[in-house]
Amino acid sequence: MRTNLLCSLLLVASLISAEDPITPTPTTDSSDSDTSSTPAIVVAPNTDTARQTTTTSNRTPTTDDLVQVTLQRQTSTQSSSSRSNSAITPSSAPRSKTTENEQDKALLKLLFTIPPDDNFYNADFKFGSQDQDIQLRLDLVQPEIWVMNQANFMDCDSIDTWIASELSEMHLTASTDSLPAAITTNSEYTANCGYYGLYTSSEGSDVAQPTSGVAVSNNQPYLVPYMNSIYAFGTFVTDSITFNLTDGDYFKMSSMTFLDVNDTNVYAGGLGVALDSKGSGFLPTLVENQIIKSPGYSLWFNNYSDPDHAIAQLILGAVNTKYYIGDLYQFDIIPHRGYRYNASQQATNQDLIELTLPIVLVKDVLVMNLNTGESLSMKSSSSDIPVLLDSRTSYFYLPLDLIINLAIQTNAYYSGEVGRWLVKCQPLIDAAARINIVIGNLTIPIPLTELIADAVYQGVPLAFEGGDKACFLKVVPNSVSGYTCLGLPFLKYAYLVVDNEGGTIGLANSNKYLQVNKSDYAILGGDSQSNITRSGNATTPGEVKSIGHITSGYIPFATILNNGTSPSATFTYSSVTTTSGESVILDIPARFSGAVISNGYIYITGEASNSASLSTSALNASAADARSTGYAARYQQEVIATIGSVKIQTQMLAVVLSVILGLVTLM
Ligand SMILES: *[C@@H]1O[C@H](CO)[C@@H](O)[C@H](O)[C@H]1NC(C)=O
Ligand SMILES: *[C@@H]1O[C@H](CO)[C@@H](O)[C@H](O)[C@H]1NC(C)=O
Ligand SMILES: *[C@@H]1O[C@H](CO)[C@@H](O)[C@H](O)[C@H]1NC(C)=O
Ligand SMILES: *[C@@H]1O[C@H](CO)[C@@H](O)[C@H](O)[C@H]1NC(C)=O
Ligand SMILES: *[C@@H]1O[C@H](CO)[C@@H](O)[C@H](O)[C@H]1NC(C)=O
Ligand SMILES: *[C@@H]1O[C@H](CO)[C@@H](O)[C@H](O)[C@H]1NC(C)=O
Ligand SMILES: *[C@@H]1O[C@H](CO)[C@@H](O)[C@H](O)[C@H]1NC(C)=O
Ligand SMILES: *[C@@H]1O[C@H](CO)[C@@H](O)[C@H](O)[C@H]1NC(C)=O
Ligand SMILES: *[C@@H]1O[C@H](CO)[C@@H](O)[C@H](O)[C@H]1NC(C)=O
Ligand SMILES: *[C@@H]1O[C@H](CO)[C@@H](O)[C@H](O)[C@H]1NC(C)=O
Repeated sequence: MRTNLLCSLLLVASLISAEDPITPTPTTDSSDSDTSSTPAIVVAPNTDTARQTTTTSNRTPTTDDLVQVTLQRQTSTQSSSSRSNSAITPSSAPRSKTTENEQDKALLKLLFTIPPDDNFYNADFKFGSQDQDIQLRLDLVQPEIWVMNQANFMDCDSIDTWIASELSEMHLTASTDSLPAAITTNSEYTANCGYYGLYTSSEGSDVAQPTSGVAVSNNQPYLVPYMNSIYAFGTFVTDSITFNLTDGDYFKMSSMTFLDVNDTNVYAGGLGVALDSKGSGFLPTLVENQIIKSPGYSLWFNNYSDPDHAIAQLILGAVNTKYYIGDLYQFDIIPHRGYRYNASQQATNQDLIELTLPIVLVKDVLVMNLNTGESLSMKSSSSDIPVLLDSRTSYFYLPLDLIINLAIQTNAYYSGEVGRWLVKCQPLIDAAARINIVIGNLTIPIPLTELIADAVYQGVPLAFEGGDKACFLKVVPNSVSGYTCLGLPFLKYAYLVVDNEGGTIGLANSNKYLQVNKSDYAILGGDSQSNITRSGNATTPGEVKSIGHITSGYIPFATILNNGTSPSATFTYSSVTTTSGESVILDIPARFSGAVISNGYIYITGEASNSASLSTSALNASAADARSTGYAARYQQEVIATIGSVKIQTQMLAVVLSVILGLVTLM
């Protein structure tokens, strides 16, 4: 049976520094003068011919393709940075778009922020009569509220503190070497832990019962149906949950039935906003209380990535034109079909099938060089790509052919050892390139810098042979994850509306002119905090022309484009678990797979190596290393987990390792 999980913090990469990802940092031309090291980036002379190149060849790209699609990067000029800026952020921001007015502030909104040393978004809640402080993570792909149980988990921060003090007692500094056995064999190290608050349920007669609309009973066991590799198993409990809205009012949901999890592979519970929940569910409860009309939401992120400023606002049941630029388009949700769980968990497969999930059809993925205005499709086939939008990953899971085309454009090399694509960071930062995600008539541009992260392997920052700093591309083949997905880098640049009840999705470009940051919400509530009295009905749709309520099948302000454009697309997914010893064969051309890592340096061999296949044993080794250095790495200030962390059950290593790529990118 399950014994202790190893609480391993897999710190694979460090956070992109908080510098403006849109404005390219000025190039030091001297360091770049060697043309042989000039990176080949994203500059196709003619989109049409280039597209032909890719669409006519269904074969895997070979070295020959390189010549056709790759041109040299333009040498940076002063004008390039301003031009690139204006392409993403037009110079004239309408004044009304830069600040929130009283009506915007009065909207029912839940604030999410990024905790220190983290990259994902949490909101504050108080649970039960004891007002237990627990943060829940924004979770678009499942419908339940779930918390981690005090009885089964320790507080990770206290474990970290303990390890630090043990190390200092042993006169050891946190290094990349393995932690001493005295620490790793200790129960504190092997304990399961959670970072953002643990839940203790009430006892005896204080225990509330589920409300009449809820079909599950207290203590009923349940596995959260995640399409991604998050595992969360627990039993239902019923208790009160209180939260603040962004205007400081609070709302108390008194008899909420949610999942009290005793076994999970992540460090934070979830606030699920999909449908339909077995427990009370967050959005359905607001509908039941006549706070909102329909269990829909919209979601806006500001343009910061650092914990001091980054926020996301979950707008409950409504759309506000303030939060987007250009047109808002409405699409039908793409249905999903597949098996994620094995035969003994058929009920969970069924739960997963029945969910309403944010899945849209991507028509194209383009890479664009803002210095030249040229762009190039990364697709090798003409078919559209259904994608899941997931807020608990900072990666994109994409078809391999698309990633290889992207690798050609970014000069990326695949390392089987790390299980990642490696690129030189600076050229990509200088290139002012971006990824355009095309969905129907809408194009969402994402700075390419959002899709790279400092490469750190076994606690050591990686560099290329010549000394250039290395970055990971935040893309993973969908053959490894079992499904196709766009994570936070997409969500941050999109304004997303989900009409769960009607099965439609609204998308627009996020309003990045709007200057709202965490300090604007430093003091939520305060003395005048009041019990919520407003209802979604009351905030007068007629009077405020910029705010409208989502109702079933209706997204306010949206242009419907669906008719006939996406007749029968289906999103398919498969199990991510392969049996021990099995390899996930990635058919990566030799040209891109010859990266060998030694002492923190990356050597490009240019030779086909078996690194192109991810054998479970290779991953086993790297995961084991990551585990033993995880905590140590945490004490190195420059290292910040960017792609999440998972705990790996020792006995299951051989089994889960083939999916480690999927696992490590979740949090
Ligand atoms: C809501 O705001 C009040 C006042 O600032 C604060 O005391 C309380 O902890 C907040 N509640 C939550 C759940 O964060
Ligand atoms: C979690 O709870 C379930 C049901 O009570 C139990 O069967 C299981 O062993 C528990 N798991 C752990 C890790 O405690
Ligand atoms: C966000 O946008 C504002 C205004 O365009 C800009 O000043 C700021 O640097 C941007 N921040 C980031 C992190 O991009
Ligand atoms: C199904 O998965 C569960 C949990 O991952 C595992 O315990 C069980 O052995 C698996 N059953 C089969 C038939 O593979
Ligand atoms: C959407 O795109 C199609 C073809 O690309 C075009 O005919 C149509 O006018 C566009 N619709 C809107 C509302 O932009
Ligand atoms: C954050 O918002 C506050 C209040 O509007 C403002 O004073 C501050 O300059 C902003 N900080 C940044 C980095 O934008
Ligand atoms: C908040 O208001 C609701 C309905 O108006 C009421 O039932 C509830 O008792 C109030 N809660 C508190 C804590 O005052
Ligand atoms: C909100 O609207 C619904 C129907 O649209 C109505 O039944 C309900 O009474 C209204 N609630 C309030 C507080 O006005
Ligand atoms: C598009 O869909 C709407 C709503 O389903 C329908 O009323 C309309 O007739 C359709 N238009 C076309 C051209 O199919
Ligand atoms: C994985 O690593 C563990 C210990 O690190 C080892 O015992 C096991 O044999 C390895 N499994 C494979 C498939 O290499």
